[in-house]
Amino acid sequence: MSEGIDVGSPDEIEAGTARVVEPEDSGFVDPIAVFHTESGCFFALNDTCTHEEASLAEGWIEGDTVECPLHSSSFNLRTGKVLCLPATEDARTHKVAVEDGRVVLYPGVAADPARAAD
Ligand code: FES
Repeated sequence: MSEGIDVGSPDEIEAGTARVVEPEDSGFVDPIAVFHTESGCFFALNDTCTHEEASLAEGWIEGDTVECPLHSSSFNLRTGKVLCLPATEDARTHKVAVEDGRVVLYPGVAADPARAAD
């Protein structure tokens, strides 16, 4: 079980944006994007698109989805499920929670799709 990484206070990640946690900070092999949706929920996915080299944190967050900035595949933020081509592979999810007023990321721990940190 991975230990939680403090990603900051909820206010520090503006709603509608994402923050990237680099491998040197998370201990996980890939960069992880922590998304803050307009509805105030937090989700985390591997930052690199499953299609090519693009940062999902630089994409567009709409509801519970993010659209890749390079070729516009979108992914469900809760489940990592790819929703449209050209990507065909789902994105890996990571558990994120708000604990004691901090956003805490659990690198490598799959998110429970039924729950959102808010
Ligand atoms: S790199 Fe994301 S859809 Fe192509």
